[in-house]
Amino acid sequence: MKKLILDQRLSAIVDLVGKADIVVDVGCDHGYVANYLVEENLAKKVYATDISEPSLRKNERFAYNRGNDQRVISLLGDGLVPLRDKDFDLVIIAGMGGDLIIKILQESFDLVKDKTLILQPMTQRDQVRKYLVANGFKITKEAIVRDKNKFYEIMKFIPGKDLGSSCDYYFAKNLLEEKDPVLKEYLEHLLEKTENYIKKASQSQSIKAIKRRENLERQAKLYKELLDDY
Ligand SMILES: C[S@@+](CC[C@H](N)C(=O)[O-])C[C@H]1O[C@@H](n2cnc3c(N)ncnc32)[C@H](O)[C@@H]1O
Repeated sequence: MKKLILDQRLSAIVDLVGKADIVVDVGCDHGYVANYLVEENLAKKVYATDISEPSLRKNERFAYNRGNDQRVISLLGDGLVPLRDKDFDLVIIAGMGGDLIIKILQESFDLVKDKTLILQPMTQRDQVRKYLVANGFKITKEAIVRDKNKFYEIMKFIPGKDLGSSCDYYFAKNLLEEKDPVLKEYLEHLLEKTENYIKKASQSQSIKAIKRRENLERQAKLYKELLDDY
């Protein structure tokens, strides 16, 4: 059997897992992460769940064809609901909107409050960080990857207190400290986008446009300050 090769985003996700006993991959879809984890002995067992039956079947077929079906267990259902009676120690939720990730965690908070979480929200990344820090988690490490003009941030949370500055909700502390080159590209990309939005918002003098411009200017200032430190 040929070794499973993951793309950059999925590789960054499994790198942050490190090693775990029992992992849950919520919204597993293709099943690449779940199967990679057991094949590389990074997890003893993975519960791969999906709300969509066709998506879950993709993972089920993939696990069967690769001989992993005893260690990759497919469960159909919404979020962590199918995990109610199961033991696990780490949860991955990747490739979904930040609002959906927060909803999934909120709805099963009793199941996840003492677990390690690896999250890769497609949107509202600051909201995800805020929600978890407000609910007893701290960020231990983050990764950022670029695929063409898309940037993906992957966050690892464990239970604990984190007394970071408010800028930690927007960008990973470890990546800023390491002066990660992809984070620099991301900040430059955000600054350019924000400056274009400021130009557009400056064409109107309505109260809404003025408020929006003020907000955008605050964001641009943060990006510039962070870039100045590079
Ligand atoms: C874009 S795919 C991401 C797949 C994979 N996690 C990745 O990062 O490549 C999102 C998957 O999440 C599933 N999904 C969406 N809402 C869900 C929910 N509430 N519970 C479980 N799975 C969900 C979708 O059916 C889909 O298969």
